[in-house]
Amino acid sequence: MSVTSDPAFEALLKERENRPLLRFLTCGSVDDGKSTLIGRLLYDCQALFDDQLDSLKADSARFGTTGQGALDLALLVDGLASEREQGITIDVAWRYFSTPRRAFIVADTPGHEQYTRNMVTGASTARAAVVLVDARKGLSTQTRRHLALLHLMGVPDVVLAVNKMDQVGWDETVHATIQAEAAAFSLQLDGTAPAPLAIPLCALSGDNVCTRTGLAEAAWYTGPTLLEWLENLPVARDAQDDPFRLPVQYVIRPDSSFRGFAGRIAAGRVRPGDAVCVLPSGQRSTVARIVTFDGDLPEAVAGQSVTLTLADEIDITRGDMLCAAQEPAGVSDQFSARLVWLSDTPLLPQRGYLMRLGTATAGARVMQIKSRTDIDTLGERPASTLGLNDIARVSLSLDRPLAFDPYSENRDTGSFILIDRHTNETLGCGMLDFAYRRAENIHWQPLKVDAPAREALMGHRSGVLWFTGLSGAGKSTIADRLEQKLHHLGIHTMLLDGDNVRHGLNRDLGFTDADRVENIRRFSEVARLMADAGLLVLVSVISPFRAERTMARSLLPEGRFLEIFVDAPLEVCEERDPKGLYRKARAGQIPNLTGIGSVYEPPEAPDLHLESHRASAEVLADRVLDHLERTGFLQLPPQGAP
Ligand code: ADX
Repeated sequence: MSVTSDPAFEALLKERENRPLLRFLTCGSVDDGKSTLIGRLLYDCQALFDDQLDSLKADSARFGTTGQGALDLALLVDGLASEREQGITIDVAWRYFSTPRRAFIVADTPGHEQYTRNMVTGASTARAAVVLVDARKGLSTQTRRHLALLHLMGVPDVVLAVNKMDQVGWDETVHATIQAEAAAFSLQLDGTAPAPLAIPLCALSGDNVCTRTGLAEAAWYTGPTLLEWLENLPVARDAQDDPFRLPVQYVIRPDSSFRGFAGRIAAGRVRPGDAVCVLPSGQRSTVARIVTFDGDLPEAVAGQSVTLTLADEIDITRGDMLCAAQEPAGVSDQFSARLVWLSDTPLLPQRGYLMRLGTATAGARVMQIKSRTDIDTLGERPASTLGLNDIARVSLSLDRPLAFDPYSENRDTGSFILIDRHTNETLGCGMLDFAYRRAENIHWQPLKVDAPAREALMGHRSGVLWFTGLSGAGKSTIADRLEQKLHHLGIHTMLLDGDNVRHGLNRDLGFTDADRVENIRRFSEVARLMADAGLLVLVSVISPFRAERTMARSLLPEGRFLEIFVDAPLEVCEERDPKGLYRKARAGQIPNLTGIGSVYEPPEAPDLHLESHRASAEVLADRVLDHLERTGFLQLPPQGAP
């Protein structure tokens, strides 16, 4: 969840390096006046360059909503032309401004409901947040959602900017009601956190933004202006005093004499001679040098990007974490976590995703959604899937152990994102709460009689022939024919058929996407066990999703899994309709029949593609047999042999 800021900011920052820097974000609904507020901060702090002012004047005349001749400060912030036309802000924009006391980077995150992703992105690196509230509307669902997300993301300080106070005549009771509602909601979020301060202001005129209002009707407010609040926040908690953490981004090996480990220090400090351990392996060494472009350093601290060399030759790769040997991070492959779902494609428990945690990547699945948080009531509800913007407590399982810290201890080493394996889209982001002990206590038991030994006894190869396709495409008929042929040839087989297994092991599953994912997961695990037992397993299930078929393949050694696409046009399957299901679906009795009310994702590169409307089951079964023989998967006795 790290965010890169504009290089122009970095240049400005260098120039003003001596001032403490505060990174904060703003959030609010579309019409709350957020862009105007940021524009006001930039304008009053004279962060604008002359050319920006000129173009602002021109834009105000062209697009402005504030009337003839007046500057529309919102236009400063609503950067892109397309956004201006829609009148909403759609991406995280980072702005820089400063006062004599302090430099600021502000993330402008959009308030539109579907843009939670941007807000979460902004919140992951922010020290404080300004939540816009429209005085006329009070604390909206959107505001509550923002407060809850900020709490979830662990943003340390939050202030409410109660905007448009001029529209309610600077009525003290309006302000007090909002303040009280926010206090009650915060108490619900966290019984110990102080209630956020609410500042009555008017972004349009600038009252109480950077300068205190002189209006008599606003004299009841004696607290700070927004800028004063921002200027007086304590600077970031000192991550430099936390235990040392360096997630390794690159291993630098220009020649055999130099091996350096480069990355950004996530916490703590490091000096040559410090004892470090490498996680997840647990090997130990000491720091030899801290190398930079400008020569070696005697010390480096959190936030710096450095290259370390170690005293010993140990095996370290990208994604490993160097830690203080005395206070190492945790290592686990099973976690309890909170997850914010950021995609239109729902989260499906048991589906394989990629998880990025710091610089490390691992395969990950949500084993269980423990509860979904109802943002309005803050109640925890059961859920079987997650949709866009949902927040949930989940248990996660990885395909290998990774080093981590709980998010409450370190926002860098305790946060992760989930990524779609095929599209690379970021689907969700989350925070690790703790590792499950059970992960530590279950070990892989090495057994003396293994899969190759069992296979040798069988006298033929084991593996999985996975038939996928629509209902009525002919999977089971072909698989059944093939199994008879194999059996006759002395091959030890087992046929796992979708309908049949749903009578027993998978009796508890229906046909929602989530249930189909679990259905396929169980099929893959059982097929793997049976292949391990030495059998040639034929699986005949619709298995409509690519992700799960990929997962099934990944459980078996290379070359031991064949994906066989049994293909027939939907019209043909519907015409055949051996179980009368299509007729029922068309009559509205089965809402989610595959191919009609539920998707089927055809294989992109199956090992075999059988078109069942062009040849008989007999011919197609022979084609599979042929393929097995030709590719050396099976060495069959010559035809006619006993
Ligand atoms: S899968 O989608 O989860 O892979 P599976 O192959 O186990 O499905 O089961 C499919 C069988 O269940 C079909 O052959 C059909 O007989 C029956 N069935 C009942 N309802 C549905 C439905 N809504 N969609 C697909 N198949 C269904």
